[in-house]
Amino acid sequence: MTQVIDGKLIAEDVLTEVKKATSELASETGVIPGLAVVIVGDDPASHVYVNSKSKMAKECGFKSVQHTLPVETTQEELAALVASLNDDPSIHGVLVQLPLPKHLKSEPIIQSILPEKDVDGLHAVNAGKLAIGDLETGLVSCTPAGAMVFVRRMHGEDLSGLNAVVIGRSNLFGKPMAQLLLNANATVTIAHSRTKDLPAICRTADILVAAVGRPQMVKGDWVKPGATVIDVGTSRIPAPEKGEGKTRLVGDVDYVEAAKVAGAITPVPGGVGPMTIAMLMANTLKSACRAAG
Ligand code: GUN
Repeated sequence: MTQVIDGKLIAEDVLTEVKKATSELASETGVIPGLAVVIVGDDPASHVYVNSKSKMAKECGFKSVQHTLPVETTQEELAALVASLNDDPSIHGVLVQLPLPKHLKSEPIIQSILPEKDVDGLHAVNAGKLAIGDLETGLVSCTPAGAMVFVRRMHGEDLSGLNAVVIGRSNLFGKPMAQLLLNANATVTIAHSRTKDLPAICRTADILVAAVGRPQMVKGDWVKPGATVIDVGTSRIPAPEKGEGKTRLVGDVDYVEAAKVAGAITPVPGGVGPMTIAMLMANTLKSACRAAG
């Protein structure tokens, strides 16, 4: 029987821990974790994500601040906001929602966030700490950190002897995911749009992680029988069965096909998504604990 990995349930476990540790931190040190989320422009999907991040921060007992900036915001204005959040001792985590509007350069903004407040794990210092295996003092990007919680639940802490294939090589997901798997002793292949014979490479995977943004690209016969399949994609496709003009959310994996072959699989929605937010809360708490000494 294929196990469906319930991301909502596992995220609840993480959030329960975060809430408990937050109230202990507050009573022992008086420090309340502070998360600032910045969004520029009016992309509706980004607003949904950002609102749920801010709301969850409140539910965890954090100070939660949301800065919603108009689409015409300049590079200098955004940089000035990040600088002021860097200087604010009540803020322990700064997240600038991506993608930014086209006229803004995201990389200088991300690199201007203090590494110890970079709860997205995108600063070069945090990416570098992950690359050298320093998971203790660095902050790891939330979606791969969440996916790794699923992998550990299925396979334990030590992935020695297991083949992992990550499809996608982004800084936000593919690269850190591969590093985390490698740190846990998996044999890791990073595949991407230029990879030759992707289905054959995927079939070698005991752990298959898809993050390409191509709806339902990974077919059932790409999956090794019994493999753990983690689907990081979220795309909207037409759903005429729900009514004219309606859409539904799907991942990068053809779920119906893959679920017949996999040992365990994450659904979309309800898999990786809820874990990303939970790990953001965990990262913000970690920053606050470090600031508290
Ligand atoms: N856009 C989509 N996912 C993310 C994320 O994890 N962090 C940020 N900052 N932007 C995103």
